[in-house]
Amino acid sequence: MTKFVGAIKRFFCRADDVCKKVEVFCKLKVVFGIQSFKEALNRFFENLTVNFKKIIQKIKDLFIKSIDIFEKFVVDSLEKIRVFLNKQLDSAKLKVNKNPYYKTIKDKQLKDGIKAIKLNHVPVCNAPYTTMNFDVSGHVTACCYSRDYVLGNFYETSLNDIWFNNPKREKLLENTNKFILNTDACYLCERYIKYQNNNILITMYKKQCTPNLDKYPIRMDFEFSNICNYECVMCGGKWSSSIRKNREKMPPLKIPVNDNFIEELEEYIPHLKFAGFLGGEPFLSNHYFKIWEKMAELNKDVEISIVTNGSIYNEKVQKVLDSFKNLIICVSLDSLKPDVYSSIRRNGNLENVLNNIRIFKEQGKLCWINTCAMIQNIYEAPELLEFCHKNDVGITFLPVDDALGGTVKGIHENGENEGVSNGSCRELMETPCDEIIPEFRLKTLPKSELENILKMVENIEEEKKDIYKQNLKDSISALKHQVMGYIEEKK
Ligand SMILES: C[S@@+](CC[C@H](N)C(=O)[O-])C[C@H]1O[C@@H](n2cnc3c(N)ncnc32)[C@H](O)[C@@H]1O
Ligand code: SF4
Repeated sequence: MTKFVGAIKRFFCRADDVCKKVEVFCKLKVVFGIQSFKEALNRFFENLTVNFKKIIQKIKDLFIKSIDIFEKFVVDSLEKIRVFLNKQLDSAKLKVNKNPYYKTIKDKQLKDGIKAIKLNHVPVCNAPYTTMNFDVSGHVTACCYSRDYVLGNFYETSLNDIWFNNPKREKLLENTNKFILNTDACYLCERYIKYQNNNILITMYKKQCTPNLDKYPIRMDFEFSNICNYECVMCGGKWSSSIRKNREKMPPLKIPVNDNFIEELEEYIPHLKFAGFLGGEPFLSNHYFKIWEKMAELNKDVEISIVTNGSIYNEKVQKVLDSFKNLIICVSLDSLKPDVYSSIRRNGNLENVLNNIRIFKEQGKLCWINTCAMIQNIYEAPELLEFCHKNDVGITFLPVDDALGGTVKGIHENGENEGVSNGSCRELMETPCDEIIPEFRLKTLPKSELENILKMVENIEEEKKDIYKQNLKDSISALKHQVMGYIEEKK
């Protein structure tokens, strides 16, 4: 009986349960308006699609959000890097500005230097990357100013060992990359930057050569021959065989060229874009004529520049002029007055030189005049500028601080030697000489005289500003800064 009652109860509970479920289903039907199971199934799949779309939308939203977060992260990081780099740059600028030599720099050099630091790929000077300079001591240097920083001796060492994998050259490259100029190598450019002389070598190398890493040099400057017919007052025996013999009374220098030199050059010549020839008097050097011959054979397109005293013109010279279509000549001309010319450029004859200048000009080869700015000729600056204007050539006023190599008693005020030039061989710089040349000095002129010179230069600048071409304007401005530099030194 009890079992029967239990079974009835369970039946009714289940029935109750079923009824409740039916009731729930009916309610659902009411809520969702479901008419049949088929429709419920459809509805179910419909809902599934809607939900799936929602999920996809959510994933999309999430994705977009993470892209936003990622973008923000990248922008923030870049900003942090920018702030970091700017701080580095500021501290570098500070370092540069703290150096007294840079206090006066306002122009392009500083900007170039800062750019060099910023990009860390643009060196402040291109010379160590591009150039080999050969001098009369057998020294190879990066340029004609860095004579105290010898990369090797071409009489003793192969050109390959001097140029490739040379720790001294690598150190120089490192310094130029970091805009370090106050070194044994680059102090002269640093000094001219101080005087705001735009003709400093850095500018010239920037204009002419772009850095080429781990490659052959693209420029070579030859000044290893001191054969010269002149005995200019501001020059020395290291540059002029005649001064060495007659003023310094010393035995001739041995030209440091071994039998292999020209052969070694053969590998290098095809890579050259520029070749400069100085001396001595280039048109008196047999070695130079041999090099020109090789160049004409292996690289006719090389740009050749020759700095000459202008005294030599003959068939051999004409053959060289004819061999290269890109050949330019710079004549050193220190005065247009015959007596002043011969007193500076001893053994020289102005008429002969002016005649040769005309010949070079007629052939389109004359491109520049070099003038050593000294007390003897500085008041002639307006005439020299006018001469260059008429001949449509530029002029560079070279600062004369000391005699070029050798020491000459009397070229400094009070007849005292006070240090010598940056000649690369010390033994030659000690050369004694008793000749007195008291009229030489520019640097130790009294301040009042320098101020007169400055006024004169400023007048030219003002009067001719609308007439002269840019290269003449630049020359005047460089000369002005040079004189101002000397005045500054006298304070
Ligand atoms: C040494 S010379 C060699 C080339 C050639 N003999 C000539 O006189 O043109 C090269 C240049 O150096 C210049 N020079 C000579 N003595 C100088 C000095 N003490 N300071 C600066 N430049 C000087 C010359 O006027 C010339 O323009
Ligand atoms: S400046 Fe030139 S021309 Fe004059 S002595 Fe020196 S090397 Fe010769």
